[in-house]
Amino acid sequence: MEQLPQPKLRTSTDIQGNILAAFNKDFMDFRYLHFPDAAKGRGWLSAILNTVATTSETEDFNEQFSVARRAFGRDPGITVVRCGVSLTFEGLTTVAKDPAQVRSDLEKPFPSFVAGAAARAADLGDTGDSDPKQWLFGAGTGDQVVHAVLIVAADTDELLQEKLKNLDAVEAANQVVRVHVDEGRTLTGALKGHEHFGYKDGISQPGVKDFHRENPDQPGFRDVHPGTELIEAGEFVFGQKSEAGDRTAPRWMANGSLQVVRRLRQDVAGWNAAVVEGATKFTGTMDPTRLGGCLVGRFKDGTPLAPPNGTVTGVGSDRNDFDYSNDPAGEHTPWVAHIRRTHPRVFAGIGDGHPKSHRLMRRGIPYGVQFPGGADDDGVDRGLMFVCYGTSLEEQFELVQRFWANSDTFPPGKPNGPTPAPNGFDKVIGLAGEASIGLADGTHGTVDMPRFVRTTGALYAFTPSISTLRLLAGGEDLPNTPVGS
Ligand code: HEM
Repeated sequence: MEQLPQPKLRTSTDIQGNILAAFNKDFMDFRYLHFPDAAKGRGWLSAILNTVATTSETEDFNEQFSVARRAFGRDPGITVVRCGVSLTFEGLTTVAKDPAQVRSDLEKPFPSFVAGAAARAADLGDTGDSDPKQWLFGAGTGDQVVHAVLIVAADTDELLQEKLKNLDAVEAANQVVRVHVDEGRTLTGALKGHEHFGYKDGISQPGVKDFHRENPDQPGFRDVHPGTELIEAGEFVFGQKSEAGDRTAPRWMANGSLQVVRRLRQDVAGWNAAVVEGATKFTGTMDPTRLGGCLVGRFKDGTPLAPPNGTVTGVGSDRNDFDYSNDPAGEHTPWVAHIRRTHPRVFAGIGDGHPKSHRLMRRGIPYGVQFPGGADDDGVDRGLMFVCYGTSLEEQFELVQRFWANSDTFPPGKPNGPTPAPNGFDKVIGLAGEASIGLADGTHGTVDMPRFVRTTGALYAFTPSISTLRLLAGGEDLPNTPVGS
């Protein structure tokens, strides 16, 4: 059979793994590290450089894995460990040869990155019990300032532990301070592939031009993934063309990406009880399963509430072949639903005309043991290590969290809203308060829920290309002529 040429970014050995090609591992540790000085930071970077995964090798493995799974009908016994490294603004200015240049390269175009997640907390709703004062990382001072985030991802716990032992030695040799560690672990049994509230996660992701193949029968969409739009690669990786031409960056950022890490603790007992209680406040046909589905936009097995948009048809619970154009009033997928708030599809351009400039490449994984069930909170710390990549914090993660999830009047000029009340907040990640729902069968009501997700750590970091990591590790000049568009 004739082999089609690979899309150009698919074979990149410069873009780190996990940005375009997901690590997709069951065991993922996050180490938040502080360098005592420039020389030791560079020493640590030099020592880990060879273990940092590339896009090409990450995707090769993923393809091999899917082929083997199709052939044997179960997960094949192939295993690997992968590393990814990112640097915060403080980390970059610690190791860079010319910190003043890095500051002036970043200050104007990347204000949120330079300020850091803790400084952005008030605008993003990280207040009350999500206040940075209580964070486990991301708001420390002195030797608790995080310089690097190291992700170590493995298919088995043995592989992970073996790798961590080597990394311990590299940290010790360079007197690197470990500020905090998070252990991301996929859930098991019936909850495999689900997050702690019980909903299937990791379904809808942007398709990326020049990385994913286009469907020959439906230009603009990813092949074999009905409903997955192809987005310009510059939305996720610097140096490439972006959707609105607003993503230029200094050359040393080319093939790199901005990373958001948020440690989001989930109160599962609280959520379960609120959904049961909330369902009793509705007029019409409502039960906890339906209400939970309305708040997420998908039922627990992933099945979307949205009817297909008629042009393509997906199959199974992972269906993604909808764009809400047939549901302007939110009578199938309410406007408060988490997946509609964070990706309103055809309604995304309301207010700015750039519908494709606000997508996130999500790479999260749960942490903490599964909730055992029952009505009472067991006090165990569990939640989601939310990770996403993109080329603008302001237009992507922050816009989604601040102006979509945390705004009770989103979307502005709501088309034919189901009830006279404002839509309310995203009840998964938004502020405490009301969410109103009015469905096509006449069922309607309002839920008033506190927050069951709180932020317990957060960081903004930059995931450099392998070639820029090498320049940083060698204490060399960083070329800064503008690239991308
Ligand atoms: C503990 C916190 C969170 C939980 C429990 C959660 C849960 C979920 C679930 C169950 C889905 C549907 C599965 C899928 O399409 O992949 C989803 C999708 C999504 N979530 Fe979250 N999420 C959380 C945090 C966040 C945050 C902080 C953001 C961004 C600010 C976010 C943005 C998204 C986006 C963009 C989608 C895809 C929507 C689509 O394309 O249809 N999530 N989330």
